[in-house]
Amino acid sequence: MSTAKAAQAIGVVHTKQALRARIDAWRSEGLTIAFAPTMGALHKGHLSLIKQGRALADRTVASIFVNPTQFAPGEDLETYPRDERRDLDLLEAEGCDLAYLPSADQIYPEGFQTRISVEDFSKGLCGASRPHFFGGVATVVCKLLHQCRPDIAVFGEKDFQQLRLIDRMVRDLDMDIDIVGAPIVREPDGLAMSSRNAYLSAAERAVAGGLNVVIAEMAAALRAGENVEDVVESGRRSLSENGFEALDYLEVRRADDLSLTEAGPAPADARIFAAAMVGKTRLIDNCAVFEQP
Ligand code: PAF
Repeated sequence: MSTAKAAQAIGVVHTKQALRARIDAWRSEGLTIAFAPTMGALHKGHLSLIKQGRALADRTVASIFVNPTQFAPGEDLETYPRDERRDLDLLEAEGCDLAYLPSADQIYPEGFQTRISVEDFSKGLCGASRPHFFGGVATVVCKLLHQCRPDIAVFGEKDFQQLRLIDRMVRDLDMDIDIVGAPIVREPDGLAMSSRNAYLSAAERAVAGGLNVVIAEMAAALRAGENVEDVVESGRRSLSENGFEALDYLEVRRADDLSLTEAGPAPADARIFAAAMVGKTRLIDNCAVFEQP
């Protein structure tokens, strides 16, 4: 069989056995595999993961699984947007070769007991207000990576803490998979694409567009040599003036180990991280301060 990436209908599998059979067949042809785990409700940010996967490997697999263990009681598990037909059409149009849509018992069979904890990367930022979240993410991603056994797995930089945590987990557990980050995809006004943007009313959507503007201004001020403490203080003020009533965090951290920089000039790998509520919707964003190699 030719290894060329001819356009073809996407395959769909629902069990780990069917997934493995497809992966093993590709492996026996000497093909490499990229994997993009998602929770569906796909947007251009997800599709950029597929594009990146296609550029880096011979075959690309996406999973769609709304993972219950990363939602706390009272969060939006029940209402999380789901549209399987549309998601599959989008994946197919992007040239994704295979979609894995497991039912919950494929991931969490009866009697499941294990939870992965990536200690320090689960603390701070989103881990502070969502203490259950990263354990659920690490556990499901560990399962999905074991079921798929890809060469490469692609994650969006919008969830930068998640990306770093998964990279650490894969190295700690000798999983022999390259974790690749894909740049944030933004709306024309700069709002980072997210499945949860669908929750925003028109008025909230107008406010939401200010988050990326404020962190970009903060990055410019840090590049100009201003101190972190002053820039964070004025960033907080700007967000409040721009209609963000509840700020969860606004911090400068190092990209590599996510350690906090509270004062003085920004280090070369500094990133600004923000999370804020607009109405009932929680938005997150981040950006590098300096151009990264
Ligand atoms: O980023 C997401 O959509 C989810 O956290 C992930 C990685 C698919 C795990 O459920």
